[in-house]
Amino acid sequence: STEASQTTTNGVLQNGVGTHVSAAGDDVDLFSAALISPAVKASLREVGYTIRPLRRSDYSTGYLDCLRVLTTVGEPSRDSFNQQYDFISSRNDTYYILVICDSSSRVVGTGAVIVERKFIHNMGMVGHIEDIAVDKNQQGKKLGLRIIQALDYVAENVGCYKCILDCSEANEGFYVKCGFKRAGLEMAHYY
Ligand code: ACO
Repeated sequence: STEASQTTTNGVLQNGVGTHVSAAGDDVDLFSAALISPAVKASLREVGYTIRPLRRSDYSTGYLDCLRVLTTVGEPSRDSFNQQYDFISSRNDTYYILVICDSSSRVVGTGAVIVERKFIHNMGMVGHIEDIAVDKNQQGKKLGLRIIQALDYVAENVGCYKCILDCSEANEGFYVKCGFKRAGLEMAHYY
């Protein structure tokens, strides 16, 4: 109700039951939309989807549900989501996260490329592709392929000389279809 409404320190208007009213800035793209491949955008538009950088408002458009097809996400509060988003946003020359939305603006696919700067290869930059996920009901429609093509475009256009990723054997065929080839072996040390 309006009587219960209050403005918080960052200007976000909330009512007594915690309903979120969009704050200024919630709909700002994480990175420049000019880095979204025009070709990928056009082919998705033809089949009724849009592709764009992640936004803070994607807390409530199904982004986290989409990631749940990949692994456990937890149940982050809006505040903790916003904190993580703001950290990532402050480094938006390093983290590029994009989403595909359906015709009702729900997120149905996502992927990220993290750009690493090196001293080797003439101060080279390498893209690390991470967290590719397509909603269960939308798999097999080339959305995964479009996500990888879009991330490749970002990586190439910000100056990476290659992109690399880790995946399960079960997904090798998908990445081969996207133009990747097996190179090396993944190792992990969990803490
Ligand atoms: N094995 C072999 N081929 C595959 C596989 C697979 N697992 N998945 C898709 N393909 C093929 C498709 O048949 C298609 O081939 P075609 O061009 O001959 O028709 C091509 O790859 C492109 O497939 P898409 O339709 O674009 O794939 P989709 O949209 O279903 O996305 C994805 C694939 C991302 C793996 C999806 O199934 C998914 O979200 N899975 C669960 C989460 C996951 O495993 N993510 C990847 C983790 S690895 C990482 O993040 C780096």
